[in-house]
Amino acid sequence: MDAGYTVEQLRAAATDAVRAPSLHNTQPWRFRLRDGGIEILVDPSRRLPATDPSGWGVRVACGAALFNLRLALTVAGTPAAVRLRPYPAEPDVVARLVPDVPRRPTPAEQALYAALARRFSNRAPFWPDPVPADARWRLTEAARAEGCWLELLVGVSAVNAFAEIARGAHRVLERDPAYRAEREEWVRAEPAPDGVPTSAGGPQAEPQDLLPSRGFGGRNRAPGRDFEPEPLVAVLGSTGNTAVDQVVAGQALQRVLLTATDAGLAASLLSQPIEVPTAREQLRLSLGRFGTPQMVLRIGYGQPGWPTPRRPVDEVLDLPVPRA
Ligand SMILES: Cc1cc2nc3c(=O)[nH]c(=O)nc-3n(C[C@H](O)[C@H](O)[C@H](O)COP(=O)(O)O)c2cc1C
Repeated sequence: MDAGYTVEQLRAAATDAVRAPSLHNTQPWRFRLRDGGIEILVDPSRRLPATDPSGWGVRVACGAALFNLRLALTVAGTPAAVRLRPYPAEPDVVARLVPDVPRRPTPAEQALYAALARRFSNRAPFWPDPVPADARWRLTEAARAEGCWLELLVGVSAVNAFAEIARGAHRVLERDPAYRAEREEWVRAEPAPDGVPTSAGGPQAEPQDLLPSRGFGGRNRAPGRDFEPEPLVAVLGSTGNTAVDQVVAGQALQRVLLTATDAGLAASLLSQPIEVPTAREQLRLSLGRFGTPQMVLRIGYGQPGWPTPRRPVDEVLDLPVPRA
């Protein structure tokens, strides 16, 4: 295509990209314009060495931001052709987007885009109503459209078996003081542009909870306000587990989350069993699927809530320095 993207297009698309989820809301991304292409990069200063030593979480988050970038550019009529990890010598460059043939967005793309600003992690108990079959189908198709799979755990025994793996992983992580310190560092009791606000952290964990919650210092629970007894648990997986596969998984995650939001559903993420290698392997074996689990989602009908803060977009842009 002709001239490439402009700084204005970069800024507009990055404003949407940063709405993506990230571990502890670290927002580990940067965006730049190079030779007319928009590039998304890992921000190494926002890695979590104790929680995410391999960089898996950073790549999933950047993949989710990349999905938002693609969607925003498409809805603006300037869709992109994407190359993942375009420069072998620069592994922190996650993707490069160059203008593709301009076209009108489809109604489905517009609906997903409309969900982007409304989506948030809802860690509160959901209503007990089951997620209907057509919505389940849309969620699994969303993962498939991005080259991944989404396995919905069916039946109490599958959910209980998963919960045991997840609680075990949670206990392993909680034994590590560096992991706990990192989480405390990103909990925000006062308004802040990053980190997890205590108001979004969900209620304090209680012994009867089936699934482990990360513990972001949420409020105490009113009596009787337990979590839904039969949560819809979904495992998102990719065919392989290279750095590129993890970026692909991030894109699929965001497409699933936006599809859920568009369907009126709430979701929260649960990655302890992904972060502990033995738990991840147990999970993989229990699913009997080819590939690697990359994320676990709890999906259902939630109470209203609010999107969490982000840093101003100009803080994450590397703009060309104007010539004097
Ligand atoms: C790789 C990854 C792992 C995550 N793991 C968890 C988790 O285990 N528990 C949790 O409550 N949220 C988890 N999250 C959600 C983030 O905490 C959340 O996206 C972030 O705080 C921003 O909030 P938002 O999703 O409401 O925009 C994870 C997100 C990502 C991208």
